[in-house]
Amino acid sequence: MDKGTGLRPVILIIALVSFCEGRVVKVPVGPLVHVEGQAVSIHCDVSDYQGPRDQEFEWSLVLPGNNFLHLISTFDGNFADSSVRDRVNSGDISYKRLGDAAVELKFKKIRATDSGMYRCSTPSTDSVISGNYHDDVELKVIGDSLKVAPAIPKSAVSEGESVELQCNATRGFTEHTFLSVTWSIRKGSSPLEEILTFGPDDKIKVGRNYFRRYTDGGLLLDLRGGGFYGLVLKRARPSDQGEYVCVAQEWVRQGEEGRNWRMILEKSEEMGNVTVTPTELQFKVTLTASLNPQSTSEPTELRCEVVDLLHLQDGRLGVTWSYSTNTSGDVSQKKLTIASLNEQGALIADSQYQQRLDTGDIAVTRRESNIFILRMLQTRDADMGSYSCAVTAWKPTQQSGWEKAMEVQSTPVTVQWTPKIPDLQVVAHRVREASTAGSTFEMSCRVTGQNLKNPGYSVLIRFEETLGGKSRKVLSLSQDSVLQLEEWSEPSRIDSVVLEKTGQLEYRFRLYGAQVTDRGLYYCDVTAWTRHQSQDWIKAISAESNKIEIAFVHTGPVFNISIHSEANNVLPGNTVQMKCIISILQASPNTGDMAFEVRWFQKTDRAVDNGVQPLISMDRWGVVKKTDSNDTSLERIDRNTFVLSLHKIKDRDVGEYYCSATPWLLSPATGAWNKEKDLTSASSSLSVKTEFWESLMMPVGYGLAAAVIAGLLSVLLGLAVAHCCFSRNPIHTPRPRNKLMDLDMD
Ligand SMILES: *[C@@H]1O[C@H](CO)[C@@H](O)[C@H](O)[C@H]1NC(C)=O
Ligand SMILES: *[C@@H]1O[C@H](CO)[C@@H](O)[C@H](O)[C@H]1NC(C)=O
Ligand SMILES: *[C@@H]1O[C@H](CO)[C@@H](O)[C@H](O)[C@H]1NC(C)=O
Ligand SMILES: *[C@@H]1O[C@H](CO)[C@@H](O)[C@H](O)[C@H]1NC(C)=O
Ligand SMILES: *[C@@H]1O[C@H](CO)[C@@H](O)[C@H](O)[C@H]1NC(C)=O
Repeated sequence: MDKGTGLRPVILIIALVSFCEGRVVKVPVGPLVHVEGQAVSIHCDVSDYQGPRDQEFEWSLVLPGNNFLHLISTFDGNFADSSVRDRVNSGDISYKRLGDAAVELKFKKIRATDSGMYRCSTPSTDSVISGNYHDDVELKVIGDSLKVAPAIPKSAVSEGESVELQCNATRGFTEHTFLSVTWSIRKGSSPLEEILTFGPDDKIKVGRNYFRRYTDGGLLLDLRGGGFYGLVLKRARPSDQGEYVCVAQEWVRQGEEGRNWRMILEKSEEMGNVTVTPTELQFKVTLTASLNPQSTSEPTELRCEVVDLLHLQDGRLGVTWSYSTNTSGDVSQKKLTIASLNEQGALIADSQYQQRLDTGDIAVTRRESNIFILRMLQTRDADMGSYSCAVTAWKPTQQSGWEKAMEVQSTPVTVQWTPKIPDLQVVAHRVREASTAGSTFEMSCRVTGQNLKNPGYSVLIRFEETLGGKSRKVLSLSQDSVLQLEEWSEPSRIDSVVLEKTGQLEYRFRLYGAQVTDRGLYYCDVTAWTRHQSQDWIKAISAESNKIEIAFVHTGPVFNISIHSEANNVLPGNTVQMKCIISILQASPNTGDMAFEVRWFQKTDRAVDNGVQPLISMDRWGVVKKTDSNDTSLERIDRNTFVLSLHKIKDRDVGEYYCSATPWLLSPATGAWNKEKDLTSASSSLSVKTEFWESLMMPVGYGLAAAVIAGLLSVLLGLAVAHCCFSRNPIHTPRPRNKLMDLDMD
């Protein structure tokens, strides 16, 4: 080193000053550091010499006390010291000419004991001894003590975790040599890719593909000293998976002022494989029906479980329950959201299901961190279909919010059963037969219901005069036991029908004093009702019983009813009378005491009820009831004749009139009054002479009317005089009364 820095410039200056004078022998600047066992060559050249171009060289080891151990010479085969002759003979120590004035001393395998100061000398061929004839260089042979011990404390990590790559590198001698450590990765069959190198002069060199990550703070060096070299890959990615290799290198400085680095030793160790599990949610959602209803109103419980839950870390899970009307195979069915639990655990219900969720009929809950439950307390027929759950994983965002990371859909589960169709049967049987008019009829109806949950029954007694004819409601008993007369409205016979519940599923109908008009078919019309919890009754099913007939033989008298009107066309203000005459065409043994109910009707456009307006009636005791105006009256002028009087005839009295009568006979056998069939008369029309009257009312027509009347009067007067004078014949055709009235008016 001293030579290099101090002597050489001096020699150079001398050489320049004494032009072309002074030999220069030169070896590299030392110390030369080599590792034992390696091949070593030491260069030596000579310049500025005189004599032959070919120069000879001698290599010796400088020993203490200015002694030398001769090694090898280019011209003297016996130059070598006996202690090294074997090595020279075996070629372990040799030389190589590089030219006329340059040579290399070569060691095939340097030994630790070869350390020392080596001298390259040249015998003089100069005329004058001038310059230097030898040069020395120090060779240091160090042992191969570099040791690399790699370790990866955790070789299986999840995405986002850190991977620690520890590489302990130690060596025995630290003088003159420097260490570098390189971490590399091999992914599959790709070539080794350098991640980072530390050293040999405390510098950091980052691999091309890792530069960005290094500047982002994703690569961290852990240098604790004592040969510990650690590299931490923060926030591992799936691409960090691979085989890691650690390389330690020992370096020496060389060249002018030690500016160049020369690597003298390298040790490479495989650190091991690192697996990075992606943190994406995988994992799987299973949906099972823990309670599957077998019939309507049974509970349903569906369990949506997230299995193999990995890498959620501080993420959260939400769920969305869906329903579609049919099984999985049918894609045409639209999916309907029932409700979802969001990342905050809040329940968001669909409007269609809101009410059932509010009442608790449907519950959406979370049982454990990874199990979601959908429960229906009372499954309805309309709930049949397929159900699925979708689990959503939420991850926290930098802005302390949540973002959807993943959504996994379960396979659907079918909730289906064969609905038990409600069934209702009603059987009627006769309890008491009405064999004659006035006797009591009684029938009972037995109800049998199936597949009805907590049913209630309502019973309606219906009546048909002839089989398949128009049916009339008689009376009913509701599911809440309310008895109601329906179309049984005869005031005098209200108490003659009874309907009662006589057993759990048995109802009895009784009709006292059966009349001729009661003859026909009776049956029970039963409706089964069900109700959910405390809610209203829901109609489930209806059924009719068989029909029971009241068919006693009646041999009563035969009646005829007729109507007689004295006038059909009248002037306003007049009174008209019409007679309703009931005659007995054919008497019978029953014909004893007899009474009639008579009713008068008007058929008119104004009337609401089928154009028929009831006017006035008389019951069998003679009590008259008016319905409309005070200008009608009804009187019985003999046993069978009922006269209707219409007073103060008005426009509105125009129409058809008829009467109807119900005969009642007192049965000598039972002493009860029995009703015969209703009789209805033909109708009679009534018109009012409105046109003539109105023309009279017109002021313009007064004169004309007066003239016509005067003319008429004179003609009549003439006729009367003629009659009086020329004929006293008392026989004459009776004038209609209304004609006379015309005259009276005048
Ligand atoms: C590396 O060195 C550290 C500290 O000296 C030591 O704790 C660790 O066990 C060494 N690792 C190996 C693989 O030798
Ligand atoms: C790493 O994995 C590769 C491929 O599976 C295998 O060939 C190699 O031996 C493994 N290395 C170590 C150190 O286990
Ligand atoms: C689903 O559809 C099939 C035919 O595609 C039908 O037979 C079945 O009854 C349906 N089920 C429901 C619950 O609607
Ligand atoms: C019933 O009375 C009407 C009207 O007077 C008459 O035309 C009819 O022939 C009578 N019927 C019988 C069967 O006598
Ligand atoms: C019928 O006459 C009674 C008593 O004369 C009277 O109070 C009632 O208002 C009259 N009704 C009509 C509809 O004219």
